[in-house]
Amino acid sequence: MKAKVDKDTCIGCGLCPDICPEIFQMDDDGKAIAYKPDVPENLADSAQDAESQCPVNAITVQ
Ligand code: F3S
Repeated sequence: MKAKVDKDTCIGCGLCPDICPEIFQMDDDGKAIAYKPDVPENLADSAQDAESQCPVNAITVQ
């Protein structure tokens, strides 16, 4: 499973690193990145939670 953040879409709300800090963090530009894009099985729920809660649908986890 891979996580990806579309930085052009991210508005920097900060929700995803709150929900799943093991995968997402805020980058220097104030947008999120999936700094660990390979999502292990035990973090799949948490990463998908971040995906579904992002207000602008900038996250893809698949
Ligand atoms: Fe950006 Fe969405 Fe995360 S707006 S900070 S990718 S929850």
